[in-house]
Amino acid sequence: MKTRYILPAIALAAVISCGSNHNRRESMDRLASRVFETAKAQVVLMDSLLEADRCPRTLDSLGKLVTTDIGWWCSGFYPGVLWQVYDYTRDTAIMNLARTHTFRLYDLESRNTDHDIGFQVMSSFYRGYLSTRDENFLPMVRQSAKRLSGRFSPVTGTIRSWNGDIWKWPVIIDNMMNLELLTTVSRLGGGEEGDSLMKVAVTHANTTMKNHFRDDFTTFHLVDYDPSDGHVIKRQTVQGYADSSAWARGQAWALYGYTMMARETGSLKDESISRTYLSQAENIAKMLLYRLPDDGIPYWDFDDPAIPSAPKDASAGAVMASAFIELSRYTSDKTLKASCLDMAQKQIRTLASEEYLSKKGENEGFILRHSVGNLPDGSEVDVPLTYADYYFLEAISRWQELHRKRK
Ligand code: GLY
Repeated sequence: MKTRYILPAIALAAVISCGSNHNRRESMDRLASRVFETAKAQVVLMDSLLEADRCPRTLDSLGKLVTTDIGWWCSGFYPGVLWQVYDYTRDTAIMNLARTHTFRLYDLESRNTDHDIGFQVMSSFYRGYLSTRDENFLPMVRQSAKRLSGRFSPVTGTIRSWNGDIWKWPVIIDNMMNLELLTTVSRLGGGEEGDSLMKVAVTHANTTMKNHFRDDFTTFHLVDYDPSDGHVIKRQTVQGYADSSAWARGQAWALYGYTMMARETGSLKDESISRTYLSQAENIAKMLLYRLPDDGIPYWDFDDPAIPSAPKDASAGAVMASAFIELSRYTSDKTLKASCLDMAQKQIRTLASEEYLSKKGENEGFILRHSVGNLPDGSEVDVPLTYADYYFLEAISRWQELHRKRK
């Protein structure tokens, strides 16, 4: 039986009552300009620390920058942070850095190791296109979509996430994020090929909705399929506390992924597709609103028994904040809308506080502290990560955009 989460009506009251505190609290406009001023100093610092063929990954235990080659799933996020800083500041020196770091990823074209090409190319090349409307960014986007769709199997109804032989046909919830590459290229045009990319994205999203989620709308991390007949072999949570637990970033990818798919399928003839994804996102959001701690930033796994001593994951908080703001635009449930905005604001304010936000010149150019990459692997625990920075800036920009429209 599916869990029904009833949101307290006080959420709406809380948003309305924010008004009384407004005089004492920093305005969101002021917060945005403070964060982007810090971000601008940080991205320039990071550029000065990077060798020509390297991408930022995290910090080591001495606080020194750890870099990676372009194949790492996060290689697009630093260029994406640069594009967002450019969008806010319109500083051409930042635009030039963004262009340089984006085109450094060009060799991704010749690789086909996993599904992460979506993260890598959408946050860099497609962001570059959105910022400049320069069509030179688009061939890479189109080519990558073709590659990603080549990983689709009509038998499992999914795109294969990872290569290797540990699993037969592993699909992780993160893969929902990469569907935006397919839907974007489909929207850019391309006749039958475009239709087929959309079909792959919709089929993957439908299969994932059927097989990844528990009755309480939490999601497993990984589902392994049998590629010969498509049946589910097993379900796991590889990067979480236990197979049965709710790994925080996985829940964040799920919320963001289904909200994004509701948007991307909004103009399809069959309106029920978008409505189904919206309803899935609403249910995930209600689960999260029910479970998130007071400051809005999740512990790395909602079910770690070490809570409240377990590490927080700023990256999951940032992804959720961005998704909550987008979901607030589509849902017709007024209480949920208010709760999403209330939570997103709380998450942004927490991440913009001294506890999380770097000071200029600190942390080798990262913007946020306190994320978790892969705790079971002992990798990247309580450290800065590029995707936390990327989705944090996106959340602030989305907040600003929404409220600019309302003014
Ligand atoms: N896509 C990998 C992660 O979220 O850690």
